[in-house]
Amino acid sequence: MFKRHRKLRKNEVIRNLVKDVYIAKEDLIYPIFIEEGENIKNEIPSMPGIFRYSIDRLSEELDELVKLGINSILLFGIPKNKDACATEAYNENGVIQNAVRFIKEKYDNFLVICDICCCEYTSHGHCGILDENGYVKNDETLEVLAKTALSYARAGADIVAPSDMMDGRVEKISKALAENRFENIPIMAYSVKYSSAFYGPFRDAADSAPQFGDRKSYQMNFQYSKDAIDEVAEDLRQGADIIIVKPAMAYLDVIKKVSDKFEIPIVAYSVSGEYSMVKAAAQKGWIDEMKIVMEQMYAMKRAGANAIITYYAKEVAKFLENSEN
Ligand code: PBG
Repeated sequence: MFKRHRKLRKNEVIRNLVKDVYIAKEDLIYPIFIEEGENIKNEIPSMPGIFRYSIDRLSEELDELVKLGINSILLFGIPKNKDACATEAYNENGVIQNAVRFIKEKYDNFLVICDICCCEYTSHGHCGILDENGYVKNDETLEVLAKTALSYARAGADIVAPSDMMDGRVEKISKALAENRFENIPIMAYSVKYSSAFYGPFRDAADSAPQFGDRKSYQMNFQYSKDAIDEVAEDLRQGADIIIVKPAMAYLDVIKKVSDKFEIPIVAYSVSGEYSMVKAAAQKGWIDEMKIVMEQMYAMKRAGANAIITYYAKEVAKFLENSEN
C-alpha cells in the first residue's frame, strides 16, 4: 500500500493545521539608503519603489514604516565626499551618524541596524584600504571598521552589521565596543557573504561599484562550499551575536546548513538583484508579484532564517495585514 500524502492537503483547515512555517512582521528588516544633502527623494532606477532619502525627508519613509508596523531598519549611507581611506565612514558628523541621531530623537520604536563597510565611502569603491597593487589590505581596514562601528554606537545605533568580509573584523569591532562601554551592542555579522552579481542594483543605489576589478579576493566564492560553516564558527568565536547569509534565494542550501549546525539567530538577506528581478517581471505582468514574494519569504524561513532583510518588507507587511498568515 502506498501512502496518501494528499490526505493532509484536502482543504485549507487541515493544511493550516499541519503547517509549520510562519512569517510575521516582526521578522522583517527594511534597508534604507540615506544620502548626504537636502531635499532628496530619488528613486533608484534599477529598484523601482526604493528611494534614496536625505535626512530632512527621511520621515516620509519612517512614518510609513511605523504605520505598517515594521520596526527594524538597516541603514546604508551615501556621503558627499569619498576618499581612498573612507574617512567619511567614521566622521562623527557623517551621514549615518547624523541619521541615527535624528531617528533616535524623533522615534522610539526603531531597532536601528547600521551596515558597516567602506565601499560607499571609498573613491575606488572597494570595501577597504588598498595597497599599491589594488589589493585590499586586511588589517589596516580593520582599524577603519572599528572606528566606524564605534562612531555608529556613539550616535545611538542598536546593532552594528559589518559587511566588508575582512578577516578578524568581528573581534576588532567587539573589542572596540567593549573598551568604550558599548559591550551591550549586538554584532550582526555578514558571516556568509558571497561575491555575487545579485548585488548589482545595490551598487547603483549606494553608488558603491568598484572602479576596477571585483570583490572576489574578500567576498566568498560560490563555487566553493566548505568555508560557510567555518566563517560562521569563526565569527561566533570572535563575538558575533546574529549571523547574516547573503544572497538568499540562490543560497538556501547555505542557510539550511548553517541553521542545522548552529543554535543562533540567522538572518537571510534577500538582496537588491532578487528584488529587481521580481519587480521587473511583475511590471511586465508576467508573474503574480505578491504570491512569488511570499513563496520566497516562506522558503527562507523554511531553510532556517529567523529574520529576513528585504526591500519587499513594506509590501510583505501589507500583505500579512490583509490576509491570514
Ligand atoms: C556593502 C554591502 C553590499 C550589500 C550590502 N552591503 C554591496 C556589496 O557588497 O557589493 C549588497 C546588498 C544588496 O545587494 O541588496 N559591502
